[in-house]
Amino acid sequence: MQSKMRLTSLDLIKIIESPENKNILKAFHARSFLKGEVLASPDGKENNVFIIREGKARIYLSSTSREFMLSILSPGDIYSTHTRATCRALENGSMYVCPVHEFKKIAAEHCEFTLTMVKVLGELLSGSFSIIDGFAFRDTELRLTLFFYEEALLSGVDQDGGRLLELTLTVGQIAQLVGASRQMVSTLLNDMYKSGLIERRSRGKFFIPDMDRLQAASQLPL
Ligand code: HEM
Repeated sequence: MQSKMRLTSLDLIKIIESPENKNILKAFHARSFLKGEVLASPDGKENNVFIIREGKARIYLSSTSREFMLSILSPGDIYSTHTRATCRALENGSMYVCPVHEFKKIAAEHCEFTLTMVKVLGELLSGSFSIIDGFAFRDTELRLTLFFYEEALLSGVDQDGGRLLELTLTVGQIAQLVGASRQMVSTLLNDMYKSGLIERRSRGKFFIPDMDRLQAASQLPL
């Protein structure tokens, strides 16, 4: 069962190319692509579905300054031209292209196409989750670190080359200040204790051994 599931992507090429499925192949046209070529972009006007036959392509979201990788397509994987992501060939290769309205009929008759779509979309979703996670956690982490740095600077006292900070706030109150959940702040605080950025002395008492390090950790890397 496991190996069958794994084979579904490549099975699509076999299905398309098998002599008894001539009617499926008729709906597609084959074309080759070069490494670096854009296979689908958000401003594309066509509405096609394509199946990678040979080579690999990556799918990513891009803004003027950054790119976020979502997934990699391998032979047998299906993708479409109507998404906000860009698809660019990582290698020379080839693919089968079919208009969406034709593909609808094929997918209704062959569950392998739908299964592959679910697999590819699942990978896309997984990539999207990672990006959202990164944004949410990284953002809160910076705000929390900055909160501790500024509090220590304003109301802390020098001690043993570092700074001692007394806070009357609960974790829940800190969470409200940085706009995150109590659980997230708890997790991030534990990470900060582990990495030695902050030491917890007793209830509400924190020691910052190295203010410069805390400041550096509160800023986005350039
Ligand atoms: C039977 C074929 C298909 C039909 C009829 C179809 C239809 C649609 C429609 C109506 C939308 C909403 C578009 C909009 O918001 O303007 C959409 C979005 C989307 N489709 Fe498809 N689709 C098909 C195949 C595929 C395939 C094969 C993939 C990839 C494996 C795919 C991936 C997506 C993604 C990722 C979006 C979200 C786009 C975005 O918001 O950036 N679709 N599709």
